Amino acid sequence: MSPAEFDTYFHDRASRFAAFYRSEPVARALGRGPLFDRLHSAVDIVTALGARSVLDVGCGSGPLFAPLAVVGVRVTGIDPAPAMVALARAEAERHPGSVSVQERGWETVDEHDAYDAAVALGVFDYVDDPADLLGRMGRAAPHVIGSFPAPGLRLQLRKLRYGARGVHVHGYRPDDLRRLASASGLVVADLRPLGRAGHLAHFTRAEV
Ligand SMILES: C[S@@+](CC[C@H](N)C(=O)[O-])C[C@H]1O[C@@H](n2cnc3c(N)ncnc32)[C@H](O)[C@@H]1O
Repeated sequence: MSPAEFDTYFHDRASRFAAFYRSEPVARALGRGPLFDRLHSAVDIVTALGARSVLDVGCGSGPLFAPLAVVGVRVTGIDPAPAMVALARAEAERHPGSVSVQERGWETVDEHDAYDAAVALGVFDYVDDPADLLGRMGRAAPHVIGSFPAPGLRLQLRKLRYGARGVHVHGYRPDDLRRLASASGLVVADLRPLGRAGHLAHFTRAEV
């Protein structure tokens, strides 16, 4: 999927995606519990690392902002979809001085050691060149946290649903994640299952 198609897809559906986060019990009842599992696990890892600054790649409406801001972490959210950025900026205003939002894609991430951790939740699913994204995140921060859907029936159904709109969806097995890490100069430090939905991976630099 080209970056342009990816951007438009989420721009058009920003409110629908944001609505998934309105109620955790409702999301769980609808089978969307892994959204909250990956969010909580990412916050746990960031907190355990003692990270003070986080790059939130593909921040969407900003579900990570509140739980990180509340523990004193500064967040830079980036997202190229204008409608997502509008929702993220509204959410950022609730945490003055803690969160900034930039309208740009991961392809522009050229920072080096600018953050303590870089997080991408629900983004690698749709990226055709995951090693490029992971490599950029690994240069921007010494710790990288990402969610990765598992191959299987659930992913096949998503492929059909999204594919009809020109969006590619990719699945990852644990071995794929180790290979991906190695191709990006990283290692898998922790792999947390998200039920049958996939994994939340914590990567660190190979030389650390
Ligand atoms: C499934 S949503 C996940 C949003 C948020 N991280 C979450 O956990 O709810 C995927 C997000 O990736 C964003 N996105 C699309 N293209 C991108 C790109 N090139 N760089 C960074 N983010 C991108 C979309 O606009 C969308 O907000």
